[in-house]
Amino acid sequence: MESTPAMAADALPSITVKHAPHSARAVTAVIRTEQLTIRYGSTPAVGAVTLDIPEQQVTAIIGPSGCGKSTLLRSMNRMNDFIPSMSVEGRLTYRGMDINGSACDPVELRRRVGMVFQKPNPFPKSIFRNVAWGAAINGYRGNLAEHVEQSLRRAALWDEAKDVLHKSALALSGGQQQRLCIARAIALQPDVLLMDEPCSALDPIATARIEDLIDDLKSEYTVALVTHNIQQAARVSDRTAFMYMGELIEVDDTNVIFTNPGNPKTQDYITGRFG
Ligand SMILES: Nc1ncnc2c1ncn2[C@@H]1O[C@H](COP(=O)(O)OP(=O)(O)OP(=O)(O)O)[C@@H](O)[C@H]1O
Ligand SMILES: [Mg+2]
Repeated sequence: MESTPAMAADALPSITVKHAPHSARAVTAVIRTEQLTIRYGSTPAVGAVTLDIPEQQVTAIIGPSGCGKSTLLRSMNRMNDFIPSMSVEGRLTYRGMDINGSACDPVELRRRVGMVFQKPNPFPKSIFRNVAWGAAINGYRGNLAEHVEQSLRRAALWDEAKDVLHKSALALSGGQQQRLCIARAIALQPDVLLMDEPCSALDPIATARIEDLIDDLKSEYTVALVTHNIQQAARVSDRTAFMYMGELIEVDDTNVIFTNPGNPKTQDYITGRFG
């Protein structure tokens, strides 16, 4: 639904906020960070961030380069574990389970909390095999061909891929490869999709397709999206979190952040004064 709230004096006039506010609705936080600090060595990259990722919504995380967006996102499925100097303080939960606790199996966590990266990274295998891989490691027992088709349909790639399923995924365009990576993530039947600048390597047409897809995905999934593109955050997200130098400056309904932010730094960032 289009909403046309009054623009704050300094807000970018070209930004249209797509979604109605959700604040009146009771929502479950699928992922919750509480006073989360993440360090590389002794240097904090994320400082005392408290943030909820609400169920079946798109939460955009925006902020200038180096402010800790990717570090925060990667902590949500423990992708930072691969960086030896990294340490975490504070609390981070997935549906109430301590993500960094001993009861959390990171492999299972990553199945439930999938990730799509900036640069599409299909395996050098066929389109079919790329998607079937997800189902296979998930122990899928049903009709594999149907599951692949459904995942490709969900990722809006079926029409382009159905006649070339057994051709190499590397022969697809960048935008198609990104949708394939989304299909592969979906085939794992995740609960949450983390997306780190999924459109930054794509042209405007491919970007528009991925944005439509993100909007569509939230009927089934919870999405956390890191983007440098503030218009994209305005177009696709329900909630927007603004980070600056490792801190969460504010988080609110996207239309509030883009029309009436609480902090002058947010206003400066969304109006292009820095970043
Ligand atoms: N593997 C690493 N080892 C050491 N420091 C790191 C590592 N990854 C990131 N950092 C540092 O942590 C801080 C936050 O980086 P991060 O990649 O999370 O920022 P970002 O907001 O995603 O930036 P960008 O918009 O450029 O992708 C930066 O100062 C960065 O140099
Ligand atoms: Mg990043």
